[in-house]
Amino acid sequence: MRTLAFYNLKGGVGKTAAAVNLAWCAARDGLATCLWDLDPQGAASWYLRDTTGLDIKAKKLLKGKDTLASQSRPTELPGLDLIPADTTYRHLDRLFDDNDAPREVLAQLVKPLAARYDLLVLDCPPSFSRLSENVFTLADAVAVPLIPTPLSVRAFSQVMEFLAQKRLAEGRLFPFFSMVDKRRGLHRQWLDAPPQDLPNLLGAYVPYASVVEQMGQHQSPVTQFAAHSPAAAAYQALWEELRVHLDFN
Ligand SMILES: Nc1ncnc2c1ncn2[C@@H]1O[C@H](COP(=O)(O)OP(=O)(O)O)[C@@H](O)[C@H]1O
Ligand SMILES: [Mg+2]
Repeated sequence: MRTLAFYNLKGGVGKTAAAVNLAWCAARDGLATCLWDLDPQGAASWYLRDTTGLDIKAKKLLKGKDTLASQSRPTELPGLDLIPADTTYRHLDRLFDDNDAPREVLAQLVKPLAARYDLLVLDCPPSFSRLSENVFTLADAVAVPLIPTPLSVRAFSQVMEFLAQKRLAEGRLFPFFSMVDKRRGLHRQWLDAPPQDLPNLLGAYVPYASVVEQMGQHQSPVTQFAAHSPAAAAYQALWEELRVHLDFN
């Protein structure tokens, strides 16, 4: 099983939209896929029409070998399962700290999922936390949506520095441009000549598009309800690049 995380220190940059769309692209490619919605706000769970939360509290989730696997359930999209968001995820950081190896709790926890899934997609809340350290330890690739602005690039460089200091995932971070508006000069300029300090920048980018906003009404991926839109094509192209980085052939 490979793990693909969607992460950014900032909120509102398109992490959840990308996580849901790429998880569905992967499932349509025939990969048994599970999306774990780690953000207590539960936007990914909403898009996948499951707002029931876990059957147990997060504390229980960290105990017992197959507890996490018991919480995954099918969505209406064939081949895509979900481990839903839950408000008790707010306590995860504290629970991780009670552990002997506080950065490796998630990596241990997801192991039993490998018997059922080819791909685990993590939709992360925006933070620097024990949870994000766990995600960086575990993920084979961390996709980072960036709105093309100097401040986003600066924030990305700060994340890279932090990871280098902690010897975590730096080489596994894959930034990509998100919410790109070609009417803006800087957006156009950076598509042609991206800033140097974005190593591993993916070639595909997600345009600013109202179909993405409509995911909330449809409760469905764009790649499902607007399969022929430019945004759907962008998510598919991103998935095809990441698929290679994840070593799927
Ligand atoms: N490419 C896009 N074009 C237009 N709106 C977008 C796009 N990506 C995300 N949005 C909207 O922006 C808001 C934040 O997106 P979301 O994916 O939830 O970000 P995050 O998970 O980083 O907080 C949502 O209302 C979403 O519909
Ligand atoms: Mg989100």
